[in-house]
Amino acid sequence: MPLTIVRNDITKMECDAIVNAANNSLLGGGGVDGAIHRAAGPKLLAECRKLGGCDTGKAKITKGYELPAKYVIHTVGPIWHGGDYGERELLISCYRESLAIAAEHDCKTIAFPLISAGAYGYPRAEALRVAMDTCSDFLMEHDMMIYIVVFDRDSLFVSEKLFADIRRYVDDNYVSEMTANEDRRRSELFGAAIPAPQALSAKADKKPSLFRRAKLAKLDMPMAEYCAFEDALPDDLEKAVAQIDESFTEMLLRKIDEKGLTDAQCYKKANIDRKLFSKIRSDVHYKPKKITVIAFAAALELPIDETRDMLMKAGFALSHSSKFDIIIEYFFTHKRYDIIEINEALFAFDQPLIGG
Ligand code: AR6
Repeated sequence: MPLTIVRNDITKMECDAIVNAANNSLLGGGGVDGAIHRAAGPKLLAECRKLGGCDTGKAKITKGYELPAKYVIHTVGPIWHGGDYGERELLISCYRESLAIAAEHDCKTIAFPLISAGAYGYPRAEALRVAMDTCSDFLMEHDMMIYIVVFDRDSLFVSEKLFADIRRYVDDNYVSEMTANEDRRRSELFGAAIPAPQALSAKADKKPSLFRRAKLAKLDMPMAEYCAFEDALPDDLEKAVAQIDESFTEMLLRKIDEKGLTDAQCYKKANIDRKLFSKIRSDVHYKPKKITVIAFAAALELPIDETRDMLMKAGFALSHSSKFDIIIEYFFTHKRYDIIEINEALFAFDQPLIGG
């Protein structure tokens, strides 16, 4: 996945470059700056002395010395004065300048801390949003793996209202521990792809979809009758019949066409790596991970029913005994398809993120 949030100490990140939230002197300080200088050793400071400082919103590069990273890109974030003093533009510029330098140095992986979100006082949720949006824009034009590294365990990154809404939704839908245990036994016996009872009963409540009606019709009819039946089908039902045996890859490519997107627009929106997309495209029987299917469904803004159909093609279901699944259901039923927002929420609930 080209852009992801992780909890870690940035000095431990094994990337081509890590970014330092420095000050104008570039001569070290507290917070992440102090941690990077301690881990890199005194040669880093010696090189920094030669750089002549750095303006706010700009960035400069040094070697990584004792760090696992090859380079350190030092950038100076804005001090938060309430938001009316160009703080956002300066923070965007920190990410852009750092990424441009990383690209010039042929970096394939880079890790950012939340610049300005510590001593410089930028509100954390907004700082994360700027980081995610700016990196995501950059990835529309470049291939790079970007990590946003968050240090403290309990920082809340989605708005309190959204967090409370999701928590309520999870509480209302999460099945009891007993049922969850039952599910676990089922999946031990039958494998993880067996839909949970909730998923099945949710489906059973509804009128069977066109897709399923077509499937039933197809299975129950003798061939001649079926052909006659197919001739008489209205266009949409005919299409549905043709889609019965469609694989995940075929369904994905069809949906991309139907939405009028290019492949690149779709996989970038889905936060999926180009190489992974090529693999999927070239293998009609490709078996994607669940987080990949959901990312595509979000990029294609599929309604929840179609999302379930797409998941089924890959052998998955959404179940009410999984918090991850309920959170996904929350976003899709509320038609909120912004992958960054979904991932911020998943991160806040300590769940895996969606993407490649
Ligand atoms: N790994 C990842 N993130 C970290 C780490 C770490 N080891 N340590 C802290 N953070 P800050 P700023 C997070 O204060 O706000 C320095 O003194 C931290 O939780 O380091 O840009 C400089 O010299 C926070 O979310 O940077 C400047 O004077 C984020 O990194 C000034 O602080 C940034 O916090 C810069 O302030």
